[in-house]
Amino acid sequence: MVRLTKCSASIGLHILQLMLIYNFSISAAVLTYDGCMSDSAHSYTVGGWCFLLYTNSSWPLNTPTQDGAQSVCLPYGTLAVGVTYKMLNTLKYRNPAVTYPHAWLGLVRNTSYSARNQGWYWRILLPTGSYATFPAIVSNIPWGPGDPNNYAGNEDGAILVQNHGVGDVKTEYTSSSYGSQQMAVICQFAPIQWKYLPNGHGRFAVPAYQIARTTVSDSTCVTQCHLSLFCLSFAYNPTTKDCQLYSVLPQDPKFSGDINVDSSYDLYIRDGMEY
Ligand SMILES: *[C@@H]1O[C@H](CO)[C@@H](O)[C@H](O)[C@H]1NC(C)=O
Ligand SMILES: *[C@@H]1O[C@H](CO)[C@@H](O)[C@H](O)[C@H]1NC(C)=O
Repeated sequence: MVRLTKCSASIGLHILQLMLIYNFSISAAVLTYDGCMSDSAHSYTVGGWCFLLYTNSSWPLNTPTQDGAQSVCLPYGTLAVGVTYKMLNTLKYRNPAVTYPHAWLGLVRNTSYSARNQGWYWRILLPTGSYATFPAIVSNIPWGPGDPNNYAGNEDGAILVQNHGVGDVKTEYTSSSYGSQQMAVICQFAPIQWKYLPNGHGRFAVPAYQIARTTVSDSTCVTQCHLSLFCLSFAYNPTTKDCQLYSVLPQDPKFSGDINVDSSYDLYIRDGMEY
């Protein structure tokens, strides 16, 4: 309990630093956290993040490509990670104000794998110009019926299609393969401040769920999770200072069976997650 209070105080300091950076954002602009939060018809808020289904009628058909989509949400947000099955499945039923939109996610595929459901990873352009990457948990994505099907060959990216689900497509979204389409993007915006709640003890035994592992102070561990696009939970060992960030939730029944009971690790989750 004392440790948690100390933790919170350190987070407070960090929040102040972030505010100095983010203070320049124009709160009324569409592609900001505030803009996302004020457009509930086209957004979904979970774990503090706001995800916005965005399109712009001035975009020519079949643009942007996936590469172009990477910079649409910058600099106050990024292209989205499907943080949980529910997040993508919720946005699947939102209408981004155009007919039958095809919305880019930051999901791409390494086509050197022959199996269609292999090689998928999240690849997100950050405001710094570098990419954050993490292998996707393919079973945790609401694919459309029959997808991924490599329909046009060498399909190396993925979109969310309204009322269908996630489908694999070529990142160069040519009309010869897919017809003329109005494109959309899903943006991800992080709050400046968020809560991380204690959630029992243990750690995940599956390496595929681990985003990062470092030896750091408790407040640094929280900050690392907060600044990651993928982090839903973390385990911290106060004695060894081992910090493990995870892309899944301990209470999600799809993953809870993979927790190693280990009383030396405290588990924390992002507040307000839904799976
Ligand atoms: C669409 O894009 C134009 C040109 O970049 C921009 O001026 C306009 O504000 C955008 N519209 C919306 C609704 O974001
Ligand atoms: C794709 O996978 C192959 C085989 O595992 C690997 O050698 C290559 O580096 C990967 N490419 C990318 C861009 O990750």
